[in-house]
Amino acid sequence: MRKPIIAGNWKMNMLPGAAVDLVEGLWAQIAGFDAVEAVVCPPFVDIPAVGKALRDGSMSLGLGAQNMHWEESGAFTGEISPLMLLDLEVTHVIIGHSERRQLFGETDQGVNRKVKSALAHGLVPIMCCGESLKQRESGQTEDVVTNQVKCGLFELEPAQVSGVVVAYEPIWAIGTGKAATAGDADEVCGMVRRTVAGAFGADVGESLRVQYGGSVTPDNVSELMSMPNIDGALVGGASLKPDVFARIVRFT
Ligand code: PGA
Repeated sequence: MRKPIIAGNWKMNMLPGAAVDLVEGLWAQIAGFDAVEAVVCPPFVDIPAVGKALRDGSMSLGLGAQNMHWEESGAFTGEISPLMLLDLEVTHVIIGHSERRQLFGETDQGVNRKVKSALAHGLVPIMCCGESLKQRESGQTEDVVTNQVKCGLFELEPAQVSGVVVAYEPIWAIGTGKAATAGDADEVCGMVRRTVAGAFGADVGESLRVQYGGSVTPDNVSELMSMPNIDGALVGGASLKPDVFARIVRFT
């Protein structure tokens, strides 16, 4: 009922030529496999070339950005607007990744504005949440994640929330090779779902897609995906090699 969604977050990697090679190599291995919604999230400057490759090759992959501003235009030096993304046929946008929160000062309020703007423009927001190691070790995981989810979805209508993808990404698991166990990941993804159900209704909680992210590999993806509350993955490092990411997408 909830279609799995697996997205590759390329972060600040790949020049446009390499990005096109990557997406073509990926498609060669997953063409016709439609059990999973697969999405690639290249850096902004790669989006025109990757978008063209998707159109030219009739590749049914989602095209995601890694961030965006909430305004449509204006004096916001260095920012990219939802209209710019739509013009390039972008379909998804990662919002509030922990690297943006930690390194670029993104706040829950900013995340909320971006989520609202993405939805208003017909983009699927992949809204990230997740605790640090210190927060986990001091027993704050539930408070931190619940608060991020509530703040990020503040003032949305229930019908809108069904269109959001939440990515639970414990910060200590990102890029470390130390993924959360499937049980631990499922527990927090379930908490995210219950939080959303409590705020927006049981149906919305039931329809919400929740991804796990943090050191997902071809070796751990099946177990993660077998968990009842995990509907997908947000993949960093392992999404940069077409054969590796293809194995993740075809996890079954
Ligand atoms: P990783 O990154 O898969 O390299 O751990 C995940 C992410 O940051 O989305």
